[in-house]
Amino acid sequence: MKFLPISIFIFALTTATALAYDPGPLQDICVATNDQDSGVFVNGKFCKDPKQATANDFLFMGLRNPGNTANPLGSQVTQAFVDQFPGVNTLGISMARIDFAPGGLNPPHFHPRASEVLLVVEGTLLVGLVTSNQLNNTFFTKVLYKGDVFTFPIGLIHFQLNIGNTNALAIASFSSQNPGVITVANAVFETKPPISTDVLTKAFQVDKKVVDYLQAQFWYDNN
Ligand SMILES: *[C@@H]1O[C@H](CO)[C@@H](O)[C@H](O)[C@H]1NC(C)=O
Repeated sequence: MKFLPISIFIFALTTATALAYDPGPLQDICVATNDQDSGVFVNGKFCKDPKQATANDFLFMGLRNPGNTANPLGSQVTQAFVDQFPGVNTLGISMARIDFAPGGLNPPHFHPRASEVLLVVEGTLLVGLVTSNQLNNTFFTKVLYKGDVFTFPIGLIHFQLNIGNTNALAIASFSSQNPGVITVANAVFETKPPISTDVLTKAFQVDKKVVDYLQAQFWYDNN
């Protein structure tokens, strides 16, 4: 036990050192360039002159109103990520509200840059998450009621389904200013341009007709 404080100190030191250098990627793509004219993108966002900051910079009112759930999924995500809410820039946090009609689904998706905690404000949600191949794609699922909180680890596929007879509302918090969203169906069947049928028939072990059918569907993005 005598050595515990020292190991904690060393851990803190190495962690701090790591954080002082490379932050994780803050966007999908950031290819280096030497061209000064086109080199206007950085890993994250530029900062406003602190002297110019006002109280409004720290305020976001975009989560006041319910999202429109009249769509094929019956759900709508309203993001308060750095693109909508510049005040979270460099803070490693963001939020979203998710509105659900009865039966509404926030379909299987994952966040490449953030873990999530989800609070049920209204309604009843069936939630699920799937571990990586290393843990044999174990499926964890639970029914959540008003006031319940569930967590979705970074990078793992998860979903929420409103199994109640009423609208549902959930508030999500993320450990990134720009969590990113990859919706599984959209990222497979609605890429631009389409992924080769040869790839998808083998990957899903179905014939070309099924792949053609799936690629022809309209995959709504509820974000
Ligand atoms: C995953 O499956 C392998 C092979 O069946 C097994 O040895 C291993 O214990 C499983 N791991 C988990 C986390 O279930």
